[in-house]
Amino acid sequence: MVIDIDQYPAHPKHNFEDFFKNFEDSPNHFKYREEIQGAALRKKTYIYVLFEDILSYDPPLAELLREAPEETLREGIDALKDLLKFYAGGKIDEDLDYFVRIKTDNNSNEENLRKLRAVHIDKLVYIYGILIRASQIIPQITIAYFECPVCQQVTKVDQIEDVLIAPKQCSNCKNKSGFMVTSKDSTFIDWQSIRVQELPEELSPGRVPYSIKGILTHDLVDKARPGDRVKITGIFKTFVNENSRGKKSTLFTPYLRILSIEGKNAEEEDLNISPEDEKEYRRLAAKPSIQELIAKSVAPSILGLDHLKMAAALSLFGGVRKEFKDGSARRGDIHVLFIGDPGTGKSQILKQCAHISPQAIYVSGKGSSAAGLTAAVVRENDASGLSLEAGVLVLADGGNAIIDEFDKMDNRDRVAIHEAMEQQTVSVAKAGIIATLRARTSIIAAANPKMGRYSEYNTPTDNINLSPPILSRFDLIFVVKDEPNPTLDQEMADFILDLNTQESVTVTGPNKEPLIPSMVLQKYIKYARSKIFPKLTPEARKIIRDFYIDLRKADRNDESAAIAVVARHLEGYIRISEAYAKMALRNYVTEKDAENALELAKRSLKDTSTDPNTGKLDVDRVLTGLPAVTAQITGFLDAIKHKIDANKGDAINEQEFIDDMEFSKNIERGRIERLLEKLKNDGIIFSPIPGTINLTPVTDKNKKGFQKQKK
Ligand SMILES: Nc1ncnc2c1ncn2[C@@H]1O[C@H](COP(=O)(O)OP(=O)(O)O)[C@@H](O)[C@H]1O
Ligand SMILES: [Mg+2]
Ligand SMILES: [Zn+2]
Repeated sequence: MVIDIDQYPAHPKHNFEDFFKNFEDSPNHFKYREEIQGAALRKKTYIYVLFEDILSYDPPLAELLREAPEETLREGIDALKDLLKFYAGGKIDEDLDYFVRIKTDNNSNEENLRKLRAVHIDKLVYIYGILIRASQIIPQITIAYFECPVCQQVTKVDQIEDVLIAPKQCSNCKNKSGFMVTSKDSTFIDWQSIRVQELPEELSPGRVPYSIKGILTHDLVDKARPGDRVKITGIFKTFVNENSRGKKSTLFTPYLRILSIEGKNAEEEDLNISPEDEKEYRRLAAKPSIQELIAKSVAPSILGLDHLKMAAALSLFGGVRKEFKDGSARRGDIHVLFIGDPGTGKSQILKQCAHISPQAIYVSGKGSSAAGLTAAVVRENDASGLSLEAGVLVLADGGNAIIDEFDKMDNRDRVAIHEAMEQQTVSVAKAGIIATLRARTSIIAAANPKMGRYSEYNTPTDNINLSPPILSRFDLIFVVKDEPNPTLDQEMADFILDLNTQESVTVTGPNKEPLIPSMVLQKYIKYARSKIFPKLTPEARKIIRDFYIDLRKADRNDESAAIAVVARHLEGYIRISEAYAKMALRNYVTEKDAENALELAKRSLKDTSTDPNTGKLDVDRVLTGLPAVTAQITGFLDAIKHKIDANKGDAINEQEFIDDMEFSKNIERGRIERLLEKLKNDGIIFSPIPGTINLTPVTDKNKKGFQKQKK
């Protein structure tokens, strides 16, 4: 935007004064005059000013502000102080710093921060992005008093540079060195450095996100937390780089001196959906098999695996978040995990989800930054010391985190991720930084078996490097096995050959319908996520309830049965049913939605919790990483007894036993350790001296305990 002006104001302070006093936002309503009167009354040291107001009232002033913000704002602050003084009856605290905080409400003024260039240096800029890092709040000295080491005379020096300026000479004794700051009289302000990065959804695939440092002072510190989306008005500044020998570089590092910072809410953002779009969505939603069509459209280049595509689609749409009067909440996010043999198309599905999700971050393994999946405290290479940096789940707040090689996550993340998945927050309390960040993020993840291939004789935990508490937080887990199957193999061969050799392959949905183009699907999801909040109908409720009770009942009738479902599953079923309804843009969950949801849930249970020996469901396989079924435990206990007998009844060495079991029986080491732990907890074995194990002498009490265990 070019403003046509003849000449800049000669005395900007007068222009500001006129603007503050006489700007009318509606007839006879003087917004800034009132604001300043209020500030004088409440001893506030700043006011917010809309750039558009200045532009409409005094275009030359606005232009000057944009071109030379620092000098112009100083004039504005002088005008503000005069008015404050006037309204406060002639006196204000001159020791305080005053501010005119410029902001904009015109989105077209805002720039993607990737576009900041040399021409913007020292200019007023408006940018938006996501806060990825925030330092501790530290004191910065603005007025320093120095004591002379020779005669103790005190000299005042205003600090306007980044480096501390000491007096050149003592006016009393002419000494030139050794001055010490006395913090007693000096003035300090709050100072914080942050880092702002491009929004994940605006990042073109394969590009490294661009970020810029920003400096917050005074009341602006702590205004935003890592993971927050922000709108910033600032002055684009640079500082000179110096190498270790004090040589200055010709390359400058940019940063923003921030004038105002506000939250930018992703949900509030314009949906940008036309009535025609909406009509098209309604037409799609009315199709009887819309859910299948969406699922197929999520990953058109993958043959089969419809249940994986459906799970991914459900996570993209999500269930409904519930907030209760007592302040607690239940997540609406649906977490899904694909475990399986290599080369079965899991990664491919994830990549396509990342492409379709309206707001997603895709990472493989640990994530690209130090913050990993959750958050981390990192050391800055400047004076600001420690910073809190947001990880993937925090940055993807309000959207999807799509994580391949989920099992390769950092150990630090393994501890913190439970909270992120269930409570939807990430808490950090480390090195004086205490914060809770929001992480209302749905996870779509894939993991590979650590032994190469998935074995159903091992529990999911044994198969992949993930603990039971993490696994149990997934709403749906599917196991993909790569088994030779002549008909499927032929079909796959043709499909992949077609895909790779033909110009275009027309993949169709159920009933040979055309698939939904990815850009349409993306907006459809955005629309559903922001407008549709389905509720359970009584019929749907009954179906879910009966399903749960039946599975629980099956256990009780069977002496040897394990538990098939727990209450946590129930919440998952509700979420999945809601997501089914959302996919059809319906505000209520039908019987059919609930049935579909349970069908998928059953498949997930079957994949992860079937005991291969009995063919029955046993959630302990996921919840504890151990099969509850007695056959496994008694077999294991027999081996221990055998060893102890061979040792004439004396305690045996625990590590040797583990080694032996690992090699002779080929049981996963972690599994052996967990089994021993369980037997110890149940009082069946004990450690007479640490590192050894023996059978607990059988008293009546123990015997009972053991038999109870056997059930
Ligand atoms: N069901 C399938 N349909 C089409 N292509 C497949 C399928 N399964 C695997 N592929 C192809 O095999 C390759 C490896 O798949 P990938 O997604 O990397 O497997 P994974 O992540 O399970 O190890 C990809 O190029 C993928 O397109
Ligand atoms: Mg893979
Ligand atoms: Zn002196």
